[in-house]
Amino acid sequence: MDKKQELLALKQKLESRGDTPFVNSPKDIVFGDGNPNTELMFIGEAAGYWETVERKPFVGPAGKLLVKTLKETLGLDRDQVYISNIVKARPPNNRDPQPDEIEAFRPYLDKEIEIIQPKIIATLGRFSMAKFIPDVSISRVHGQPRFFEFSTINDKLTNYKPIIFPMYHPAAALRSGTVLNDFIQDFNKLKTLLSQKYETPITVVETLQKPAQTTLF
Ligand code: URA
Repeated sequence: MDKKQELLALKQKLESRGDTPFVNSPKDIVFGDGNPNTELMFIGEAAGYWETVERKPFVGPAGKLLVKTLKETLGLDRDQVYISNIVKARPPNNRDPQPDEIEAFRPYLDKEIEIIQPKIIATLGRFSMAKFIPDVSISRVHGQPRFFEFSTINDKLTNYKPIIFPMYHPAAALRSGTVLNDFIQDFNKLKTLLSQKYETPITVVETLQKPAQTTLF
């Protein structure tokens, strides 16, 4: 099976479950979308209204800003990267997802990452950031890349150490000019990061238990 087929099988597995939060029918699932052979994966929070209509992540106003900035800074189209969410459905009234709701979708996100193994995982907003870098404030750490020891969440991948790049959520950038400036600046840092080569051994490692202070910028 190639990566695309593996992701399709994973999506079908999730759709066939019927017991995940916010899901009354398989049509409520908004699975990840994009190029599984990419070096760059974005992870947002949860689907919103437009995402459930189109069954595709980040297609509403926040998504439009994300896609526009991706093109203007990195010169990439959305189908050249992979975009997914922590919660693969829409919480009522777009409320924040609860820990048990995040946990219900976690194996699917972890498996998506295992299949794609992107060089860089850009987290959009505090919920996806907290998966890799707990107990920090996004205003303090956005735009600061760090390596993550993926084996702390998946012991099959002992040598996979993606770079986690925390970013503001584009919905926050739509609400504040200051955040928008930071959001665009962080995309410019992402451009530098994508163009750099990181050879093994990687020495700076972030773990779930002990957030490292060292960053690449
Ligand atoms: N916000 C998210 O976090 N994800 C989406 O897919 C859309 C909006």
